[in-house]
Amino acid sequence: MNSSDLRQKYLDFFKNKGHKIIPSASLIPENDPTVLFTTAGMHPLVPYLLGQKHPEGNRLASCQRCIRTGDIADVGDDTHLTFFEMLGNWSLGDYWKEDAIKWSFEFLTQELKIPLERLAVSCFAGDKDAPKDEESANIWMNLGIKKERIAFLSKEDNWWGPAGETGPCGPDTEMFYWKDNNEKTPDIFNPKDKRWVEIWNDVFMQYVKNKKGEYLPAKQKNVDTGMGLERTLAILNGKENIYETDIFEPIIKLIPAELDERKKRIIADHSRAIAALILDSVRPSNKEHGYVLRRLMRRIIAYEFISKKDFLTQVLKQVALQNGVEFEKNSINTVFSEEKNKFLKTLQKGILEYSKIKDINSEKAFYLYQSFGLPFDILKELDIEKTKNLKYEDFEKELKKHQELSRTASAGMFKGGLADNSEATTKLHTTAHLMLAGLRKVLGEHVIQKGSNITAERLRFDFTHPEKLSPQQINDVENFVNDIIKKDLPVWFEEMPLEKAKKINAMGVFESKYGQTVKVYFVGKDKENVSKEICGGPHVDRTGVLGHFKIQKEESSSAGVRRIKAILE
Ligand code: SER
Repeated sequence: MNSSDLRQKYLDFFKNKGHKIIPSASLIPENDPTVLFTTAGMHPLVPYLLGQKHPEGNRLASCQRCIRTGDIADVGDDTHLTFFEMLGNWSLGDYWKEDAIKWSFEFLTQELKIPLERLAVSCFAGDKDAPKDEESANIWMNLGIKKERIAFLSKEDNWWGPAGETGPCGPDTEMFYWKDNNEKTPDIFNPKDKRWVEIWNDVFMQYVKNKKGEYLPAKQKNVDTGMGLERTLAILNGKENIYETDIFEPIIKLIPAELDERKKRIIADHSRAIAALILDSVRPSNKEHGYVLRRLMRRIIAYEFISKKDFLTQVLKQVALQNGVEFEKNSINTVFSEEKNKFLKTLQKGILEYSKIKDINSEKAFYLYQSFGLPFDILKELDIEKTKNLKYEDFEKELKKHQELSRTASAGMFKGGLADNSEATTKLHTTAHLMLAGLRKVLGEHVIQKGSNITAERLRFDFTHPEKLSPQQINDVENFVNDIIKKDLPVWFEEMPLEKAKKINAMGVFESKYGQTVKVYFVGKDKENVSKEICGGPHVDRTGVLGHFKIQKEESSSAGVRRIKAILE
């Protein structure tokens, strides 16, 4: 079975069970604050999991592209990736445990033809917040899973969410596959035995965690499931690792054979992440998404540099092909070569600095890495004598110190969170619509939204425009928005087919994919209408509640794209 077969089989299966197939959302959570990347299929659905009506209905399924930077250090082993696809199906207050588990079982055993013999499951053991999940275990047993193949585990293993600090969460039941082809499947499921690999997770979102850390019963009970495409594909083909699949084999083939296995895998994984991020309009920079992209790029550029070969262009070309885009005609090629040229210059400077240092210890090595992007491998290979006291463990310790800091920083990004839809973020979200209307009025209709990121404190907004805004233009946009606020116009939405939304010229996020039915938010009725945008919400009811709008900063974001930071006072 190849990757497209598996993707198609999954989506068809759930379509037959009454699910609408929704397209993969952007890797950068659009409109919603404050997670850096989409890390699971449920992320784009949080507002709906909290009770908003989804325009496509209450049974959904998708194949969502995800990025998990937390796993970056593990990439190179058999199962971890920074970029992967997650298959998932959702019930928004519709079916519950019985159907979810029954369909998981049916899909695994009948569609994927996994022998019952090779399956085991885990369920939530219960604690002070929620009872033991006997219900799920009983459903599994009725389907034919033996009691000995069911493990009850604590919150650490069998609980999912919330994605941020607050929001929907609940017990889950996970499905495991026995991957060892040489040894008979043990009768008793031992979750500690690594030969049992997790392939699917059904989460029963029946709680909402609040700011006090309490788990309150959810108004709407949802099912959220997730299956890693790459991992499941490897298993179905009897492979030990994800790199021996049709997703990776054509990429790995283009990497010189003499590079060690781990580097090859890292190059293959990072190239996919890089292409996906560029296609979702991320550009290398020193901050947030751009920083992650730059880090991924520089790591593989360095590997290429040491190998003294030229293969990354071919690798990225192949990745582009697998993404269905023409390499020469989109940004992957230009963005990557620009960064490569820039980094090669830094690398050369780093090597000059390196030549001035006599004995390279872990601190010096970290300095060279941090300031010049000179990776550990290059240091070691350049001069064996000079680096003889340098050990990877020590360098790693320095690195960990730093990673701890950046992890704390990105954990902070969850605050004010995606999951809480707080008043402050809702207000700024409506303000973003008003600002886009103002920018188009003042600068012209070429202005299109390229991305936005909202926290409780501020709104950040990227849009197309070739040059810096003048103080007068900034003033005009501010006045436009503040006028609408003063007029206290109503904000409301209508659901309509995508075609109709396009016909009435509703703004949409450039390059974004939408379902067949979309929500369009309007500001102001009839003649007073100032904005129409395809958007999931949430928004305030009237503009009068917004307060006073102020643009704090206007700067370049990347070529042809400007960035505004704005607040409500
Ligand atoms: N949210 C769950 C996960 O990421 C199920 O989709 O595993």
